[in-house]
Amino acid sequence: MKIIIINGPNLNLLGKREPDVYGSTTFETFYNELKTKYPNIALSYFQSNIEGELIDKIQEVGFSYDGIILNAAAYTHTSIGIGDAVKAIATPVIEVHISNTFSRETFRHQSFISPNTKGIIIGFGLKSYELALQSFL
Ligand code: DQA
Repeated sequence: MKIIIINGPNLNLLGKREPDVYGSTTFETFYNELKTKYPNIALSYFQSNIEGELIDKIQEVGFSYDGIILNAAAYTHTSIGIGDAVKAIATPVIEVHISNTFSRETFRHQSFISPNTKGIIIGFGLKSYELALQSFL
């Protein structure tokens, strides 16, 4: 099974960025643990701070992979382009967020991604990604 995790802007700073909200583990550490825990999944990872690069990656994998775990970060709340890309592809997408966006500012309550996803996992810290992975299994 081929699954990719796609992370949007500022998620490269996990571990350093607002640790009270996002925790103190780097994504690389978490990702390596996940790969070790699920050796039978062909898991890959892509991060970009650039909206168009995220769209390019979604298009690139969106007709051949079995699943996409997408945390579009701040673009979740602004990007019609990423929302349209998720709608355009055949591969199912699970939207994840580390923090509970609904317990935060109101501008984080809207998602242009959610309507076109298979499901949404929000607010379980980095565990949100693992729950999404398990749901693909
Ligand atoms: C986030 C929530 C977004 O509102 C925020 O812009 C992020 C991270 C999360 O995983 O909790 O960068 O997607």
